[in-house]
Amino acid sequence: MTLSATGALPRVIAARALDEVLTGGRNLSDALDAAGLHALEVRDRSFASALAFGATRTHLRNRYIISLLVDRPFRRRDSVIVALLSVGLYALIESRRPDYATVSATVDAAADLGRKQMKGVVNALLRRFLREREAIMLRVNDDDEARWQHPQWLLDSLRVDWPADWEEIVAAGNRQPPMWLRINQRKTDRQSWLKMLGSEAAQTPADLPSAVMLSQPLPVDSLPGFHDGLCSVQGAASQYAAHLLNPQAGMRVLDACAAPGGKTTHMLEIAPQIAELIALDISGDRLSRVAENLTRLDLQATLITGDAHDPAQWWDGQLFDRILVDAPCSATGVISRHPDIRFLREAADVEQLASLQLKLLETLWPLLQPGGRLLYSTCSVLRAENEQVIGRFLARQNNAREINIAAVNFVPPVPAPSHGWQLLPGRTDYDGFYYALIERMPV
Ligand SMILES: C[S@@+](CC[C@H](N)C(=O)[O-])C[C@H]1O[C@@H](n2cnc3c(N)ncnc32)[C@H](O)[C@@H]1O
Repeated sequence: MTLSATGALPRVIAARALDEVLTGGRNLSDALDAAGLHALEVRDRSFASALAFGATRTHLRNRYIISLLVDRPFRRRDSVIVALLSVGLYALIESRRPDYATVSATVDAAADLGRKQMKGVVNALLRRFLREREAIMLRVNDDDEARWQHPQWLLDSLRVDWPADWEEIVAAGNRQPPMWLRINQRKTDRQSWLKMLGSEAAQTPADLPSAVMLSQPLPVDSLPGFHDGLCSVQGAASQYAAHLLNPQAGMRVLDACAAPGGKTTHMLEIAPQIAELIALDISGDRLSRVAENLTRLDLQATLITGDAHDPAQWWDGQLFDRILVDAPCSATGVISRHPDIRFLREAADVEQLASLQLKLLETLWPLLQPGGRLLYSTCSVLRAENEQVIGRFLARQNNAREINIAAVNFVPPVPAPSHGWQLLPGRTDYDGFYYALIERMPV
């Protein structure tokens, strides 16, 4: 990444946002909005955003470096200064800007954060890092979290779940993710759209007819026809959902956890003759993003704000031919896109999520027509949320049959999941995703 802008303000915004993630448990995008990102000029906005994402991604390393450079830990009320130092270290280690400019802008940012008295500390600490840089970077390898930039509980789980793949998964989580798009086949095709873009795609996978990976990420306003519905931003791994569920003309489809609507709109693009698609989500706010996407793409669905755990609230009693359960999960497969997951999730969440995921499946299963299909998906790479949930579900149902989807052209990870299909980040440019397809046996 090129970090080229100057000035203290983007650093102030980035530090405030990271502090809010670390101490307030807020997600990074919301924290950036709350920190005033949108008040910045466009160029500073992308710079502040790059700093915030980079510092969040590398904070476990930066935090360790800070601990090596101070005699006693910072006080709690100085958390924003720790966040600012993390932003500064990220820029010193990973950007091509001159070191002196980074140090001076970071020191100025301390004053802009209302901590003028901390300018000397920030200055001394960053300069000491520069003097002892080589030795300090070697010491980073002594600390598991600092070295791999993932929390200990997650490293432990990944090592158990994927003994052959965990390093690649972690390395992919620490990289900037590529930008994947979905070309709307109802309005254009991949080749024509790439011509409009006027540059080459980095990848156009044969088994995902609408997917395009861009060589260089672009803002959506620069994507040809974005506002007219010619394309959407959607990861390749998540584009399998619509194809695997494969809704047909005349079917009733439930997308039980629909927002922001990536999979809802994809299903409607590939199967415009669906009789009805109900897009349900517990969050009315998030559901409004489904509405925006449907309007932009010129598609129709029935939107319902409701709790999938309580069909009595929203179900009209008619069975569905297809159900998509894109369950809330740890999001450990998309850490490269959401670096804050490192700080927003903890080990205990996984167990809790797994029992909610099982409950969701068991609640929605009776709503499926005999002969109908349910697709369970998560963007998690943890077996506890994926094959183990499906294993428990199948063990308790006598009318469910798993359909093998591992036939898609991928080498299964080792050891292969006992149920479903696991995509691991690092093996490809795809996010980590899990799918299991289950058929309700005809009576
Ligand atoms: C992984 S996201 C879905 C992403 C979406 N399928 C897409 O492709 O754009 C999970 C969604 O589940 C919703 N959710 C969480 N608990 C729910 C519940 N009990 N009932 C319905 N929706 C729920 C969340 O609000 C969130 O929007």
